[in-house]
Amino acid sequence: MGRVVIFLSVKGGVGKTTLGVNTADMLARRVSGSDKVLLIDLDAQASATIYVLGYDSQRRYESEGRTVHSFLLKLWESAESLEPERYIVKASSTSSAWSDRLFIVPGDSRIMELERRFVAEGGAKGVAWLKLLMKAVEKFREKGFEYVFIDPPATLGVLSTMALAACDYFIIPIVPDDFGRASFKFFMTDYFSKASYDIVSQDLRPERPLCGGVVFNKLVSQSSAVHRRIADEIEKEVLSVKLYGKYPIPVYKTRLNEYIAYAKAVDEHKPIIAMPDKKAREQFEQFFNEFYDYVIKGRAGRESA
Ligand SMILES: Nc1ncnc2c1ncn2[C@@H]1O[C@H](COP(=O)(O)OP(=O)(O)OP(=O)(O)O)[C@@H](O)[C@H]1O
Ligand SMILES: [Mg+2]
Repeated sequence: MGRVVIFLSVKGGVGKTTLGVNTADMLARRVSGSDKVLLIDLDAQASATIYVLGYDSQRRYESEGRTVHSFLLKLWESAESLEPERYIVKASSTSSAWSDRLFIVPGDSRIMELERRFVAEGGAKGVAWLKLLMKAVEKFREKGFEYVFIDPPATLGVLSTMALAACDYFIIPIVPDDFGRASFKFFMTDYFSKASYDIVSQDLRPERPLCGGVVFNKLVSQSSAVHRRIADEIEKEVLSVKLYGKYPIPVYKTRLNEYIAYAKAVDEHKPIIAMPDKKAREQFEQFFNEFYDYVIKGRAGRESA
């Protein structure tokens, strides 16, 4: 059974890309047989692509038109020949540190053009744009990708909404400081309520996306008491609500600390588990095991998780 996963947040810099890339890579190491993992970079900053493939490669794919932007545009214009293979890059083609079962559809700085076109042409085509990424995912799944991760931008605009409509599970990383607390209020008042359910339920799909959990990230040891207290408060609130009034929202027991190894991992284009910092590595593995249980085994989707 396949899975489409996004790390989602209305706040920037909380670790969506870092956790998304590393989780996709770990899953790629865990799967067997013919299973493969695909990462689709939907952010104009193309951070996931730059992390995995490096800046020069990202620029090259963009100039060659072999990115998610070109693919979605073709799909939107209902082009005859789509050739999804043309847009899929093997992660280990630039650094052998990545799993050889991990693949990426490169991001593109021009992707915002799509938003403008959807708004301009939206009237004629209705909410067709909402289904576009879902269709794209289907095309890639036909190429044998059992697991697809989508790295969205920080805003909950057109692109993220499209990603949300296409996903099976969304995971919310939160940095437990006062800023994080404020942004989390948004999910409590808007997202976990009825309003968001309407966005993704317009005859789009039989089952609505589930929450794969809330994970605290970047806890700083110097301010650990404050961060811990805020995390505890948010955790209590999360556990008191149910998604769509039905599903419990898991909170990860593993709270990820701020480790310099994450920044070094980006510089060296390696997953965190290939870094020498044992603590950072082991902590990430712990987080991943919880992810596997909630999302891959589907424990987060059960009404009494
Ligand atoms: N646990 C961590 N420890 C240390 N640094 C981290 C950690 N998680 C993320 N970072 C760093 O924080 C910065 C922001 O992370 P990242 O780009 O993953 O966030 P994001 O939510 O994807 O941001 P954006 O909203 O811009 O897409 C990066 O420099 C990343 O290396
Ligand atoms: Mg990002």
